[in-house]
Amino acid sequence: MEPHVQALFDAAKAVQANAHAPYSQFKVGAAVRSTSGRIFAGCNVENAAFPQGACAETGAISAMVAAGERTITAVLTVCDGTELSTCCGGCRQRIREFAAPDTPIYAAGTDGVRAVFTLDELLPASFGPHNLEQK
Ligand code: THU
Repeated sequence: MEPHVQALFDAAKAVQANAHAPYSQFKVGAAVRSTSGRIFAGCNVENAAFPQGACAETGAISAMVAAGERTITAVLTVCDGTELSTCCGGCRQRIREFAAPDTPIYAAGTDGVRAVFTLDELLPASFGPHNLEQK
């Protein structure tokens, strides 16, 4: 694995261990890299009131924004299980807010990266900030 991907994987896998997933038993860790090169991590946080649960990507993006950063240059998620698991639809839109069409999104299992997609491949013809620009 390339060093810049390994660093994302290590961060996502470490935070996956802290996931609060007592209902699905499906732990997820996410790591985003910003333009400064910093890595921000998050895990899924489920809730007894099921719809109030949050995805791992949400936490990672929130940490980045709270640190004053606004641009994502790479995303990596680590999910349990043997299937390829990619970011859910809602998280693709959350990433879209801060990333470019060619931003890489790595989908990993606990054993390593299984696939990589660009944001545009996962969310083509997307709605984004440009749609709200004043004309
Ligand atoms: N989950 C994530 O954290 N990110 C995704 O992109 C897919 C799903 C979480 C939400 C829930 O806690 C568990 O995985 C099962 O859906």
